[in-house]
Parts: sequence; structure tokens; C-alpha cells
Amino acid sequence: MLNVGILISGAGSNMLRLLEDMEQPHPGRASLVVSNTPDAAGLAKAEAMGIATQVVDHKLYRGDRSAFEAALQKILLVHEIDVICLAGFMRILGADFVSAWQGRMLNIHPSLLPKYQGLKTYQRALDAGDAETGCSVHEVVSELDAGPILGQSRVAVLPDDTASSLAARVLVQEHQLYPRVLRDFLVQFPSQA
Ligand code: GRF
Repeated sequence: MLNVGILISGAGSNMLRLLEDMEQPHPGRASLVVSNTPDAAGLAKAEAMGIATQVVDHKLYRGDRSAFEAALQKILLVHEIDVICLAGFMRILGADFVSAWQGRMLNIHPSLLPKYQGLKTYQRALDAGDAETGCSVHEVVSELDAGPILGQSRVAVLPDDTASSLAARVLVQEHQLYPRVLRDFLVQFPSQA
């Protein structure tokens, strides 16, 4: 049974779907939810499900990224986390932290990577006149939103779509994609072999 840690910064709707899925028979167990912001709404959702939560408030580290990540790393080790899921985690993680978790850290991104790495993915797809967009779950590497893609879902762009209407439909797909990809990823994880 692998210990899964989920990192959030906000609503945690993806986190919630992962937690719900891990309540079923699953190769992983949701051991911890960590937020970089104390007011992340996802924290209450995790607590309501009896999942341990921690806050590592990045504002307390005044831009000292390595101190922030050392605090994060300590908590993950204490909770014996095997795999990290970034779920709306809005901090860019430094190369040392990423290499320590390479091959064991996933992220969900709201575009069909490698298109539209970074932010404002929906508006960029609309501005480009794309017929479709979607979401991707990928392994995290030091380059932002650039690691091996583990799964994708496609969403048609409709003529009257706005960034928010598109985001709403992509989010529905994220909630199906991430749990499925995490299960597949953990089943093939080395210690499960
Ligand atoms: C989602 O759009 C996801 O693609 C991006 O941040 C958002 C997270 O939303 N990484 P939530 O916090 O999971 O509701």
C-alpha cells in the first residue's frame, strides 16, 4: 500500500476526487494533504474526510524557496509519503525538490500538453481558435508542465465558449482523469511489482 500526499493551494476539487477514489479498494492510501496557503478551501474538505492536513505557508519563508521546500520535505518524510499528487498547487517547485521526487510526483494541468504550458490555458486555446483543448496528468520534472504525459482527456471548444465555460467542462474531465491515472500509476509502481 503506497502512501499518497496531495499538495493543494485552493479549492481542492481534484484533491477531493482523489480522496474519494482512494476510499475504494486502491493501491494507494491518502496519507496527507498539504497546502501552501492556510485559507485553502480544500483543507476543510480533507479534514471532513478524516485526512491529516498540514499547512506550509510560503509567505512565512519570504521568498526563500529552499527553506519552504525543506519544511515541505520534512513533513512528507514524517508522513512516509511515497507518491505526491499536485492538485491545483500553485507554487513552482525547485530543481532539488523535483529531482528528489522525480518519477514519484504527478501533476494535473488544464491543457493538452505539450500545448499551453503555464497559465491562462483556456484563454490561449480560445485565442488560437483551437477546436479542442483538455487536461493532462504528467510526471513532474524541473521544466514547468513538461514531464512524461500519463493521461489526457479532450474537450471540444464550443463557438460561444468563454475561458470560464471551457474551464468548467475541462474540470469535469480532470475529476475523471486524475483518479484513473493515479490508480494506473500506483499499480505499476516499483514496490507494487
Ligand atoms: C485545475 O484547473 C487544475 O487543472 C489546475 O488548477 C485547478 C485546480 O483546481 N492545476 P482544484 O483546486 O483541484 O479545484
